[in-house]
Amino acid sequence: MKKIIIAIDGYSSCGKGTLAKSLAKELGYVVIDTGAMYRACALYMLEDEVDLANADAVAEAMKHIHVGFTLRDGINMVTLNGQIVEEEIREMRVAEIVSEVAAMGVVRDKMVQQQREIGKDGGVVMDGRDVGTVVFPQAELKIFMTASVEVRAKRRWNELVAKGTDISEEEVLYNLQHRDEIDSNRAHSPLTLTSDYRVLDNSEMTREQQLNLALEWVKNAG
Ligand code: DC
Repeated sequence: MKKIIIAIDGYSSCGKGTLAKSLAKELGYVVIDTGAMYRACALYMLEDEVDLANADAVAEAMKHIHVGFTLRDGINMVTLNGQIVEEEIREMRVAEIVSEVAAMGVVRDKMVQQQREIGKDGGVVMDGRDVGTVVFPQAELKIFMTASVEVRAKRRWNELVAKGTDISEEEVLYNLQHRDEIDSNRAHSPLTLTSDYRVLDNSEMTREQQLNLALEWVKNAG
């Protein structure tokens, strides 16, 4: 069967990554979490104390940022200048600035170029915000994931608390709304639902139901 490109875009904490991983496993595809790439850039900016208001400083920092992926136990882990940073990039301090970082053209240009290179031969499930609109407008299957903001905040809060983070549900809800707002309204490649997406609202769906529906779409794509 032809190896296609599957783009999964949508709001923060919708379960895009979970669906992407299970689809990739089922199909024997590579999974690329593009959000992790922007998070790795944001982590560098934090650790190097780059002033995000200074465009030259951000452009200079981008020259020193090398984001990659490395397989560990069959899972693609994101690396920043050769170091696995999978854990650090999920911290709240990164979540707080990542939308600002991802809104910058100089950051997006470099990441998009890399994403195109990784996915060019197909057999890839790539999740993010602009995969089906900008990175691979020719993707054979485009899925737009959504869920109510309360459901998303609850899921994200449960994850953070399980990792020992001391945070209120209100703070998580605020951060999600803030990120949705920036991701949808920025000048560069905003999150946009175009008519060629299949919409998957998973507020009331199990993971298995989502996977089965997506596999049905894969059958009819390409
Ligand atoms: O999917 P995520 O929450 O890990 O993404 C982190 C941030 O990166 C989010 O605020 C939106 C941004 N992002 C983006 O602008 N474009 C992508 N393709 C993926 C993520």
